[in-house]
Amino acid sequence: MNDWTSRKGGALHGEVAIPGDKSVSHRAVMLAALAEGTSRVRGFLEGEDTRATAHVLQQMGVRIDAPAPGERIVHGVGLHGLTPADGPLDCGNSGTGMRLLSGLLAGQAFDSVLVGDASLSRRPMRRVTEPLARMGARVETHAGGYPPLHVYGGRSLRGGMHTPDIASAQVKSALLLAGLYAHGETVVREKRPTRDYTERMLAAFGWPVTFEPGHVQLDAGGRLTATDVEVPADFSSAAFFLVAACIVPGSELRLPGVGLNPRRTGLLDALQLMGADIQVENRRQAAGETVGDLIVRHAPLRGVDVPEALVPDMIDEFPILFVAAAAASGTTTIHGAAELRVKESDRLAVMATALRTLGITVDETPDGASIVGGPLGGGVVDSHGDHRIAMSMAAAGLACGGTVHIRDCANVATSFPGFVDKANACGFALAGV
Ligand code: S3P
Repeated sequence: MNDWTSRKGGALHGEVAIPGDKSVSHRAVMLAALAEGTSRVRGFLEGEDTRATAHVLQQMGVRIDAPAPGERIVHGVGLHGLTPADGPLDCGNSGTGMRLLSGLLAGQAFDSVLVGDASLSRRPMRRVTEPLARMGARVETHAGGYPPLHVYGGRSLRGGMHTPDIASAQVKSALLLAGLYAHGETVVREKRPTRDYTERMLAAFGWPVTFEPGHVQLDAGGRLTATDVEVPADFSSAAFFLVAACIVPGSELRLPGVGLNPRRTGLLDALQLMGADIQVENRRQAAGETVGDLIVRHAPLRGVDVPEALVPDMIDEFPILFVAAAAASGTTTIHGAAELRVKESDRLAVMATALRTLGITVDETPDGASIVGGPLGGGVVDSHGDHRIAMSMAAAGLACGGTVHIRDCANVATSFPGFVDKANACGFALAGV
């Protein structure tokens, strides 16, 4: 079932259990693997990306038990306890997995090779290999700066001060993970703050680290002590339901226990500027993260200029923002989002093409787009194997006059297993074809 059709259902109703956060799940198993003692991870995302990361760690001798879906018991081997794998380490579709592991592996005594699927093999890796080289690491890419990555072991790393050109939590995290093995402190200063899960989780595992938005300082010579991690529901997965309920008249959905880390919720701000009706109830702290229940009701949306300052805080939400913009009155403009061109697909180009197919006027710019809201028709669109494009176009189908046929949806399993059933249970009309 690689293709879907999506069309108007009725109003959306009910409660949707959103799966665990992908970013937190990757980091939880990585740090638990390097910790001393046994950690329990609850709410682990059973997606292909995060399972690939867990498998890579198992290939290097870490015992990870899965007593129940969404639960992992990780038997940490300590900072220097990983053993060489007997083959390449397959990160599947996951840029986060590969980039974070490149930093973690740069500090090992042994060599490793990181490989990925066709999409990951087209994603730029110099953004991590170059700053890692400044720490003394040796990580070789394939021609042009793409995977596979050959990570050389036995290097002596030094920390240092890093100021990445691009706002990327993956780059920051690769440096921090290499920093665990470095002499001297590792400091990362960001031009625009990005998600801070690595630094938060390092602190939870007992490593000496101080941070504030846009700045993190990691001491050398610490140790990681096992701890239990509770993974919140993934805001980025909730986003498809938030926009779906906004654009379908009569809808009301409840999404419990969603992670509300401010570095992730830029879409909430953007939708509220557009006139959305979204309430947060039961806001609470769970294992160091803010979570809350989101209640979203239909409301007419209007086009806005998306403030550029919000871009890093909603970097994964632009495909679904395009859909909100198409269903809004007036024009929505996006700037400062060139990073979208190097995600699982070129998300600016792929969304522009998909919405044009459905009759929407979209002008693409090098770092953004303008989208003129209007009536959506049916048509055949291609997700280019990008999970977030597939789910966004499924939501678009709810507002279409015809049927949207979406090609190449299998990769939805990387981040949101069970999406079709959960979507249909609350009122989508989504079918596999
Ligand atoms: C992620 C960081 C972001 C985001 C990705 C997950 C992470 O990537 O798009 O889905 O977990 O660190 P960049 O660091 O490339 O912005």
